Amino acid sequence: MIQTQPEEIASPAPAGRWEPRILAFCCNYCAYAAADLAGSKRMQYSANVRIIHTPCTGKIEMEHILDAFEKGIDGVLVAGCLEGGCHFLEGNLRARKHTGRIREILEEIGVGAERLKMVNFSAAMAPSFVEHVEGIVETVRALGPSPLKPSIQRESAGEP
Ligand code: FES
Repeated sequence: MIQTQPEEIASPAPAGRWEPRILAFCCNYCAYAAADLAGSKRMQYSANVRIIHTPCTGKIEMEHILDAFEKGIDGVLVAGCLEGGCHFLEGNLRARKHTGRIREILEEIGVGAERLKMVNFSAAMAPSFVEHVEGIVETVRALGPSPLKPSIQRESAGEP
């Protein structure tokens, strides 16, 4: 399901300057279509965001999102169809419940609930897609790097 591993995402920042790294899990139907339409219309949005194509937001397991944060991603957007419009009936409702729970976990462990957001689009909502993408980039930029980053860097250096 996930086509890109978080560690494969190159930082768009010049050396030495931190830029947020964001994953956007987009369902195959409305959300991806809105992202695609934004591209077709040549609407500009931040290069900090990598889109992960998923069949439905209801197929995103909690561990996919937590794993992204554990690998050093600074923020995650979960984008699905409008409520009542999920092509798998209630996948987006399941995803909203999961993202709510993960936001609680992120808050409890000091990462911050604001780093995860769920949004809903119709296929025609390209401007809204761009607005939400830019919104999470700005939110995460204001929060700074994920607090999990230092421990990831220590682990990759072989430190306990
Ligand atoms: Fe879009 Fe389920 S198919 S959220």
